Amino acid sequence: MNNIAAIVLAAGKGTRMKSDMVKVMHPLGGLPMVSWPVMAAREAGASSIVLVTGHQSEKVRDLFAGRADLRFAAQDEQLGTGHAVACALPALLGFSGMAFILCGDVPLISTATLKAMAKQHRSRHAVITVLTADFAQPTGYGRIVKDGDGFIRRIVEEKDATDAERLITEINSGIYCVESDFLTVAIPNLKNDNAQKEYYLTDIIKEAAGLGLLCQAFPVADPAEIMGINDRVQLAEAGQLLRGRINRSLMLSGTTLIDPQTTYIDWGVRIGRDTVIHPNVHISGGTEIGRHCKVEPSVVIKGCRIGDGVTIKTGSVMEDAVVRDDVAIGPMAHLRPGTELKAHVKIGNFVETKKCVMGEGSKASHLTYLGDAAIGTNVNIGCGTITCNYDGVKKHRTVIEDDVFVGSDVQLVAPVTVGRNSLIAAGTTVTKDIPPDSLAIARTPQVNKEGWKLKKRD
Ligand code: UD1
Ligand code: CA
Repeated sequence: MNNIAAIVLAAGKGTRMKSDMVKVMHPLGGLPMVSWPVMAAREAGASSIVLVTGHQSEKVRDLFAGRADLRFAAQDEQLGTGHAVACALPALLGFSGMAFILCGDVPLISTATLKAMAKQHRSRHAVITVLTADFAQPTGYGRIVKDGDGFIRRIVEEKDATDAERLITEINSGIYCVESDFLTVAIPNLKNDNAQKEYYLTDIIKEAAGLGLLCQAFPVADPAEIMGINDRVQLAEAGQLLRGRINRSLMLSGTTLIDPQTTYIDWGVRIGRDTVIHPNVHISGGTEIGRHCKVEPSVVIKGCRIGDGVTIKTGSVMEDAVVRDDVAIGPMAHLRPGTELKAHVKIGNFVETKKCVMGEGSKASHLTYLGDAAIGTNVNIGCGTITCNYDGVKKHRTVIEDDVFVGSDVQLVAPVTVGRNSLIAAGTTVTKDIPPDSLAIARTPQVNKEGWKLKKRD
């Protein structure tokens, strides 16, 4: 049963993308486009996958580097889909069984459809099964030509079709199940005597049918799955459909999305039940969010691990941060990489953190920069506090121990340690370590010159 291979065609440049980047590398739902059909093939049981690459093949190969189930085949010149499969065959030497053929630029194909197609392929002992669809506007697609019994005789490309054939509305999706033994025999026989002077993969059907082998159609249930991406309009449409799938599965598993149309969650993000996500939120990079959290509008979260009961208020941006339970963040907070907020921490508006660990119950409620800092439990960081972590050459650490009260407008010139239970007076510039239980104050004493204003006016 598990003897399944897949060939994914991804050598084309994608001229209509008008891009410096090869088409199949354009991101879609948080993954390069080509990752989607590769993933679908693997989940449908393909244990050996050959990726045919041509344009920018290095980039495509790097994406899958280290993947044992994947091999690459180079197609340096794109001489047609049949030629692309010919390039893949050496990588399948010794394999005998069913192979899926997929396109790198048809990313919405689902695992369920591939499985259903494979099942029908096997149960009917077909040699080729073509995934087809019925399109009222079939322009541009290869048309399925059938015999009286409903089997496929051949596929004719638009450019080679007669007027009568162009009226056929059943089209070829470009996705197939094929017996590999037949491929090995048929592919070398392909000719390029057609309108486009290409080696058409679709011509193997004519060959199989001529030998009396069974070629059947498998109509796709949802035509959106076979949508090919040729330009950025289609890229956006496919992105919307993929997001729809991701959002739907999150909602069905217990996450509330106030407005799924404007919620942008990438593949691989996990969110717990009873968490509420407001509109215009972007979550990516394999972020994990726990239960009973609230993510307010216009929040951006990338690569974070967030516990339960966390509130993230409007306009906050978070990247590679770890946030424990019952933390409150924002509005307009910026958590940068290396931030770790322990339980019950409060980060208020216009607070920026970087490589900063804050212990349980500590607070930085307003207008603060905390970088390269280790902050203990129950520390209060006053409004306008700044860790001066950079001397122009190197970064230095600030350590603030448990139960410290940092007054407003304090600068901590690192490296510096503030001992536990100390108090730093407002306006202090801390330049040396503070022992535990102390009061540190460093500010020019205030002078009141009485009547000064009146004298000046005289
Ligand atoms: C192909 C089918 C057509 C079908 C359509 C569905 C053939 C002859 N025709 O046409 O019946 O309706 O797909 O979209 O197969 N590729 C390579 N190397 C090549 C040529 C193509 O890797 O030399 C890749 C492309 O990058 C793409 C896929 O194969 O991922 C399909 O190629 P494309 O040029 O889009 O095929 P069509 O001419 O549209
Ligand atoms: Ca195409």
